[in-house]
Amino acid sequence: MLPQDLAARFPAGFRFGTATSAQQIEGASTADGRGSSIWDTFAAGGGRILDGSTSETACDHFHRYPEDVALLKELAAPTYRMSISWSRIQPTGRGPANGRGLDFYDRVVDAVLEAGVRPMVTLHHWDLPQGLEDDGGWLNRDTAARFADYAAAVGDRLADRVGAWVPMSEPAVVAYLGYGTGEHAPGRTLMFDALPVAHHLLLAHGGAVIALRAAGAAEVGCAHNHAPMWPASDDPADVGATKLFDALWNGLFLESTLLGRYPQDLAPLLEDVVQPGDLATIRQPLDFYGVNYYSPLRIAAARDSSLSPFQLVEVLGRPRTESGWAVVPEALQEWLIMTRARYRAALPPIVITECGAAYDVAPLADGTIDDSIRIEYLSTHLQAVANAIAAGVDVRGFYVWSLLDCWEFEDGFSPRYGLVHVDPETQQRTPKRSFHWYGALVAAHRSVH
Ligand code: NOJ
Repeated sequence: MLPQDLAARFPAGFRFGTATSAQQIEGASTADGRGSSIWDTFAAGGGRILDGSTSETACDHFHRYPEDVALLKELAAPTYRMSISWSRIQPTGRGPANGRGLDFYDRVVDAVLEAGVRPMVTLHHWDLPQGLEDDGGWLNRDTAARFADYAAAVGDRLADRVGAWVPMSEPAVVAYLGYGTGEHAPGRTLMFDALPVAHHLLLAHGGAVIALRAAGAAEVGCAHNHAPMWPASDDPADVGATKLFDALWNGLFLESTLLGRYPQDLAPLLEDVVQPGDLATIRQPLDFYGVNYYSPLRIAAARDSSLSPFQLVEVLGRPRTESGWAVVPEALQEWLIMTRARYRAALPPIVITECGAAYDVAPLADGTIDDSIRIEYLSTHLQAVANAIAAGVDVRGFYVWSLLDCWEFEDGFSPRYGLVHVDPETQQRTPKRSFHWYGALVAAHRSVH
């Protein structure tokens, strides 16, 4: 679909944007007193990251942010989502704020604003300070209280300029992959015993929303990874496994955040962890509900002797990105429409806080990068969002993951999600064809309204 035709399907005020995260782009992992994060430790441990890399340098955004902000200016999308490294602000996760860490984000936020772009700031994109992990990390309820202190420190410094806040990015991924299966940092393998982690992350979200509002934050929301869950077959075992996985991945986060309760199936598992008042803290009024969407998930009951009652199986008959995820734009439409129907008045306006795809497209002889496959991915997913809007779902924004080819958690530098190609050796940035396409979409949207 042509950018003009696509743009016309989005209402006035709809915010297009791009997203990044601190651990994945900043590098400079010890600069200005920054402490270690659990991803520094995990990557340094060897054998955990597919290509053996660490994020010590990543895209060197810490030093090159003026160049990256110039790209944002050229793109001219109205908003940009970035994250703050907790261990730049509190090197061990507690104690007085490190002024030099705050100064760095002051400079970045000011530069983004000067480029005419509205910053959305995430406080926790998986990079917990190692000092807190040493005391139990997200298994320890106290970490939620520490997070509220951190949110207050950042809010006090930046709330006057940041347009929108996301305390936690994808707590499901942190809880289940970080503490359940161990694929992510900190690499714990607690399976169902990781559920308290999800509760503490949600509690931290609630406490941070309160702290940010007290600091005068403009808009505050969330960013959950959500996916329609498709049973592998109509075998009752597969259907049952899918229902349980849906409650864990989607329901736990939706119901607690929007309704102040846990799904019926899971509440008994959290009985010993939830204290009086916790669910009221978690259920803070939000200005937007952020959804990170990549792919639907297809679930089967585990039929072997593994500890997990379910397994993820391949979505059939669909192309896949280089992350191995099925490309199913209509699943995003389905999820938006179903969620709107289910939560109605409890659901604030939705923002797609991440959507994008890994495709490694080599530069042509003249240096240009023709990633039309990414344009197709983005165009079809935006059409899915436009269809949901036409069906009455209030969606206010869409952030492409990612602005840059960056360091990918678990995989290193191979999956390339960026609108801008980054050479990790030379750090040279080259906007891809998708960058220019997205810029044309943004410009067309501006001229339609
Ligand atoms: C979602 C995460 O938020 C982001 O950090 C990651 O790079 C993408 N998924 C792709 O895996």
